[in-house]
Amino acid sequence: MGVLGRASRGCAGRRRVARERGRGRDRVTTSVSAGVSALASGLRFDEGRDTVVVSNFEFPTIGQIWHAQERRGLRVVHVPAEADGTIPLERFADAIDERTALVATTHVCFRNGGRLDVEGIARLAHERGALVLVDAYQTVGSLPIDVRALGCDFLAAGVLKYLLGSAGLGFFYCRRELVETIEPTATGWFADRNIFEMDIHDYSPASTARRFEAGTPPVPSTYAAIAGIELMQEIGIAETEAHVRELNGLLRDGLDELGATVVTRREPELSGALLCVRSTDVNALVAALADAGIVTSCRDDNLRISAHCYNTAEDVKAVLDALAARRELLA
Ligand SMILES: Cc1ncc(COP(=O)(O)O)c(C=O)c1O
Repeated sequence: MGVLGRASRGCAGRRRVARERGRGRDRVTTSVSAGVSALASGLRFDEGRDTVVVSNFEFPTIGQIWHAQERRGLRVVHVPAEADGTIPLERFADAIDERTALVATTHVCFRNGGRLDVEGIARLAHERGALVLVDAYQTVGSLPIDVRALGCDFLAAGVLKYLLGSAGLGFFYCRRELVETIEPTATGWFADRNIFEMDIHDYSPASTARRFEAGTPPVPSTYAAIAGIELMQEIGIAETEAHVRELNGLLRDGLDELGATVVTRREPELSGALLCVRSTDVNALVAALADAGIVTSCRDDNLRISAHCYNTAEDVKAVLDALAARRELLA
C-alpha cells in the first residue's frame, strides 16, 4: 500500500475514532500522554494563571506531565480524596481559584473505579475562568460520552480498553474555539498546516486539533482500532453500559454474600464499568483467578474486575466461585 493509500485510510480511521468521541469536530489520534503533553507544551502559565489543579484519582501520566511543567514555572495543586474514597465537588471548589489555568480530572479512577462529577467540575472551573481536561480512558467504550454534555475543553483517551483496540493509539479532543489559542511546542510534521509542504523554515500548526499530533501515526494500530470501534458501535455503547451495570449488580450481590469489601461505590453517578474489591494479597488473588481462566488486574490493594459487552452472568458466577475458593484473600 502506498503512502497516499495509508494516509487516506489513516484519515478515515481518524474520523471513525473521532466519531466515537462525540459531537465536537476537532480531534486527533495519539496516546493520552502524547496528546496531553502537546497540550501542556502549548499552554502559557503567565498572566496570573500559573496553577493546574490535578485530582488524586489521576493516572500517573497526567500527574507526571503537569509536574514536569513545574520546570516552566507551573504550580500543581492536588485535590485529595475523602476517607470514603470519593472526591466530592467541594474539594474541587476548595482548590480552584483565580490562579487556576486548568483542572485535570479523570472520568473514572483506574485505582478504585470511582467516578468523578465531570460536569460539576467543568461548571465550577469555567465559572472561575479555568480550562478543563478530562482523561476518559476508563470510560470511553463503556458508557456514552458527549464532550459537550460533559462541558470539558479537552478530552484524552485511547482505544486499548473498552474500545477493543490495540496499544499505541489514543485520541485527543480540543474544543473548537480553543484550538487556535494553543500552540504546542511538543510537535511534529503531522501537526503542520500543510504536512506535504515539507517546510523546515517555520512553525505553522494546523488550524484544527491536528496541531496536537506529532509524527507518523501508528498505522497498524489504527486498523485494529477501527475494527474494535466498529464492533462496539454495532453492539452499542449505551447497551453495553446497561449490560455491564446488570452484571456488576450480580457481582456486587455475590461479593456482599462473601463478605468482601467492594471499594467502588454502587451509585451510578459514582461508578463506571470497573469494579474494585479489597484484597489482603492482591497479587495472589489475581494469580488464583488466572489459574481459573479469569483475567483481572490490580492497583494498590484492589482487585480490578472489568466486565464488558462480551461477559455473561455465567462469567460473574465463575468469578464469584473463584473468589469464594480463595475467600481468605478478600479483605
Ligand atoms: C485513566 C488512564 N489514563 C491513561 C492511560 C494510559 O495513557 P497512554 O495512552 O499515555 O499510555 C491509562 C492506561 O491504563 C489509564 O487507565
